[in-house]
Amino acid sequence: MTKKVTLIPGDGIGPEIIASAVRVVEASGAKIEWETHVIGAQALEKFGTTLPESAIESIKKNKVALKGPLTTPVGKGFTSVNVTLRKTLDLYANVRPIKALPNVPCRYPELDLVIIRENTEDLYSGLEHVVVPGVVESLKIITEKASTRIARYAFEYARSNKRKKVTAIHKANIMKLSDGLFLSCFYKVAKDFPEIEADDKIIDNACMQLVMHPEQFDVLVLENLYGDIVSDLCAGLIGGLGLAPGANIGELGAVFEAVHGSAPDIAGQGIANPTAIMMSAVMMLHHIGEHKAAERLENAIFEVYREGKFRTKDLGGNAKTAEFADAVIAKLKAASSKAATDA
Ligand code: NAI
Repeated sequence: MTKKVTLIPGDGIGPEIIASAVRVVEASGAKIEWETHVIGAQALEKFGTTLPESAIESIKKNKVALKGPLTTPVGKGFTSVNVTLRKTLDLYANVRPIKALPNVPCRYPELDLVIIRENTEDLYSGLEHVVVPGVVESLKIITEKASTRIARYAFEYARSNKRKKVTAIHKANIMKLSDGLFLSCFYKVAKDFPEIEADDKIIDNACMQLVMHPEQFDVLVLENLYGDIVSDLCAGLIGGLGLAPGANIGELGAVFEAVHGSAPDIAGQGIANPTAIMMSAVMMLHHIGEHKAAERLENAIFEVYREGKFRTKDLGGNAKTAEFADAVIAKLKAASSKAATDA
């Protein structure tokens, strides 16, 4: 049965990497009909809003979207559309697997951990105001409800993915009330998962440990801001932002996107690495039950890396975004003709 998926090309390198992802997903044999919607700065120009109702309705109806990165103006302009989208759809769990790809030069080729980031509150509440000129206040909102929900998600994720340990990352020594609440909710939930080890680390030490001994981590659960920062740090451990996929999961739907942003420094040149969005598409295919297509696509991406002939500029190669996609499609075709011959 054909499944409808909302497609959001995004800004900067978004349209380039999304075009490649669409091509490889189609070549994987998954039956998908795309519903394309523009959100962000482009939508503001066209429709007078960064988040048109039609895009929200499309995701609510299809319950799944593949999304390119969106640019957020720094220090001025509209509020982050990513944050608004996550809040509007209550996409509370941001799941970011950090797993090295074969034959990719990186610090930790064996690394395999998962970041679970709370996606709806914390300093991302956007509640900021000028108290008096020269003094601003920014509110960090942490609730028992959201902290319990994300802790439960992390432990359930660990259970269903046969992971052994969940570590809460926090700064409860300083933010005793807010991070203290996050941490106490974590340990309350941990009691329901006795087979999974639960521990915690203060964020500064956790960053040092991640750089020096990341193999001690398995599943990490973090508030929104820490999760954002630690995700990029961890992407660096496996070769860079071009490789780290992600999913925003909630009751109303799921939006799959790379960890990275719109990379304005390389946009329009056709040189972005599409691996992170392709691996996000692999997660999406699993999510909609297209497990075979997901496995085929993942294997094809891994094969291209194993062979090492096609690598984008961020990894020291000279393959263009579209050439990398062509290489993945060639592997998918080769695997399908081999399967046909074997049968
Ligand atoms: P960024 O992630 O866009 O780029 C950081 C660095 O990584 C740049 O040097 C870039 O060229 C490189 N890079 C990122 N993705 C790459 C890829 N696929 N292949 C090769 N190199 C890649 O972060 P930056 O520059 O801080 O943010 C740019 C914009 O993206 C901002 O407006 C920010 O708000 C937005 N952003 C959006 C996100 C989303 O839509 N989910 C997530 C993060 C940032």
